[in-house]
Amino acid sequence: MRNKILNILKNTESYVSGEEMSRTLNISRAAVWKHIKRLKDDGYDILSVTNKGYKLKSIPDIPSSDTIASGLNTEFTARNIKCMSVIDSTNEEAKRCAAMPDGSLFIAEVQSAGKGRLGRSWESPNGAGIWMSLLLKPDIPPRDISQITLIAGMAVCRVLGNGAGIKWPNDIVIGSRKVCGILTEMSAEIDRVNYVVCGIGINVNTAEFPAELQDKATSLFIETGKTYNRSELVCAIMNEFEPLYKLFKKEGFSPLLEEYRNSCITIGREIRVIYRREALIGKAVDIAEDGGLIIETENGRVNVTSGDVSVRGIYGYI
Ligand code: BTN
Repeated sequence: MRNKILNILKNTESYVSGEEMSRTLNISRAAVWKHIKRLKDDGYDILSVTNKGYKLKSIPDIPSSDTIASGLNTEFTARNIKCMSVIDSTNEEAKRCAAMPDGSLFIAEVQSAGKGRLGRSWESPNGAGIWMSLLLKPDIPPRDISQITLIAGMAVCRVLGNGAGIKWPNDIVIGSRKVCGILTEMSAEIDRVNYVVCGIGINVNTAEFPAELQDKATSLFIETGKTYNRSELVCAIMNEFEPLYKLFKKEGFSPLLEEYRNSCITIGREIRVIYRREALIGKAVDIAEDGGLIIETENGRVNVTSGDVSVRGIYGYI
């Protein structure tokens, strides 16, 4: 009921009367008032004016099941949400809760042991970013799982808009600095995936990074000078992710290749890749059908698949 009220408020630009809501939802005006009061207690800024009704001014910026659920248009993605104020790592929590349904979302205000790729740690300061993990149970071979990371990157990139690009395989960058990282982990047998955890970290309202990260990391706030509502961003990413993911499960990565290529800023750059403990130097020339990066080296073309790969521009991070 609470979500229905929230949806009405969100979809009405001016005031909506308590009477109208009680009629639409078939509940008493007192019940409407009680729900509105609880929403206000939870940080929703709702104006109430005699003879006019209620108007939603702003939603709280602490992502909660309510604020996220009310903006979703997905079938199964993020339909179960576990919001936490503090956790070691949302990826670890998703693994501990692997019995939860396909599409469950785990999100935390702060991570005490946020994990990055290649065993690195991931700075996850309190309230400044989106630290979330999706639990997925796709019926696809384990070798194709790395493509889910590419799809998650595409969903984030779509939401962040024109200024954002993908540094292969899945760092989202604005200008020459990283705004989002993705860490996908899985539990699988040789030919069967048990579950996948796709962890997404986005620097949203971070005002400043530690000195050692300043030339590599950025946030949406630093780039635009605006603060962002994190629940809205989470919803938008989930809403973009699901259709991409469904198409991928049905038809593979091919139908998504063109969009990925267009968003990938690595193509055309001179790069250094650490792949299977070897350093490869060359020019990134294309994305392969399977989402791998094709590099022109002095010994010919090499297709590097995303996995334990580190990619750096010859002249800097990208
Ligand atoms: C990287 O670029 O190295 C990947 C960073 C992934 C960070 C996210 S934050 C949410 C999820 N939980 C974690 O511990 N890591 C991922």
